Amino acid sequence: MPEQASIHIDDKKVLDCPVVVGTEGDKAIDIAKLRGTTGYITLDPGFGNTGSCKSAITFLDGDKGILRYRGIPIEQLAEKSTFIETSSLLIYGKLPTQKELDNFSSAFNEHSMIHEDMKNFFDAFPSTAHPMAILSAMICSMSAYYPDMIKENPSKEDIDRIAVQLLSKVRTICAFSYKKSIGEPFVYPRHDLMYVPNFLNMMFSSSNRPYKLVDEAVEALKVLLILHADHEQNCSTSTVRLVGSSHANLYASISAGICALWGPLHGGANQAVIEMLEEIKANGGDVSQYVQKAKDKQSGFRLMGFGHRVYKNFDPRAKIIKQKADELLRKMGINDPLLDIAKRLEDAALKDEYFVARKLYPNVDFYSGIILRAIGIPLKMFPVMFAIGRMPGWIAHWKEMIEDPTTKIGRPFQVYVGSPARDYVAIDKRT
Ligand code: SDX
Repeated sequence: MPEQASIHIDDKKVLDCPVVVGTEGDKAIDIAKLRGTTGYITLDPGFGNTGSCKSAITFLDGDKGILRYRGIPIEQLAEKSTFIETSSLLIYGKLPTQKELDNFSSAFNEHSMIHEDMKNFFDAFPSTAHPMAILSAMICSMSAYYPDMIKENPSKEDIDRIAVQLLSKVRTICAFSYKKSIGEPFVYPRHDLMYVPNFLNMMFSSSNRPYKLVDEAVEALKVLLILHADHEQNCSTSTVRLVGSSHANLYASISAGICALWGPLHGGANQAVIEMLEEIKANGGDVSQYVQKAKDKQSGFRLMGFGHRVYKNFDPRAKIIKQKADELLRKMGINDPLLDIAKRLEDAALKDEYFVARKLYPNVDFYSGIILRAIGIPLKMFPVMFAIGRMPGWIAHWKEMIEDPTTKIGRPFQVYVGSPARDYVAIDKRT
């Protein structure tokens, strides 16, 4: 007999709810009939106890520190795969054959340029514009430049084409926003360079300064993008699914996801971590006072890069990134004082009862900035690096959502706590 949950109100049973069991034994109480049968809704601010959908894309176990894309552990993908291959795995559900990978990869060349008219947008932004503002605007404006792609019921071919467009052009848009910010001419994508080297070349080369690719830096950035590629129903991915559930097009849905990612509690944390480490360094490098400050609720300060809604153990990505950061700095002969401060901060926090009791560990953002700094990525570009990495995950979830015939428009309820009914009062009678 399959498990079921029964809801009693006072001593009266009002509903029997089936229990849904996932591949790895994860369980959920299906309350789909609750409001229609009882008139009650559930209340769960932040959705800490609520599943929004069934998904076959990513599995993570926060207690065991497990993360798998389509069943494959990220540790294996980080070591053996490429970002394009991992993107194909996430979007299409299996590792591509050589022919499939060649076709997917060559389509990136076809779609690496942005419409020449879109370059005018960059002239309209101030050079100080945050690259996440530019990225979100540019991605949404792709719907104006590729209007034939905006259909309420896009075909498989349409979705395939937009997916490659977004994956390929996101690099170009981000690199162009950097060039705009430093007043240098844009460097166009090249067909002879793979995904990561192409991005780095667009970022750092110029007509009078060829960019020398450093293998270790290319490898470290490849690993970073793979590790950021998906993370099930996080804030930005849930945003992409919610916007897409209204049948908004994929460009608009991804643009909304970029905005959600920007927040310092989410993808903006990688920039906030470095700002925090810089402040600790400027104040003499004493990490203990910052650990104390993070424990003081009145301070409004949080240890950025620490804690996670799901992981109550080490974020498996943070472990790999920390090791890659050590490796890259050693191979490049870089001595970054912020890495030493980060390690001391981690050590101090993990010995402190406040963090231990709340199971607060370093997350994906804690060490990623060390790698980005070593490569030469400017601080304000850190969140867009997260967006480039997360692009395949956003696309995969949007595609899964739009192809699921049971998908309905996302529309949660609320508990109203405002004013009871009252009449309009003329302005001369108001107090
Ligand atoms: C990402 O969801 C995902 O999967 C996200 C992500 C992905 O790949 O998409 O993994 C990427 O966004 C990683 C998180 C990046 N953000 C940060 O590093 C910002 C700092 N971290 C926190 O703000 C916080 O930990 C969150 C936002 C990550 C999680 O917040 P929760 O789950 O809502 O936890 P909470 O705020 O309820 O905290 C529980 C307790 C509270 O204390 P008490 O009320 O129990 O006394 O832990 C404390 C919090 O005050 N706490 C922290 C803390 N994080 C939580 N205290 C100090 N420093 C912190 N960083």
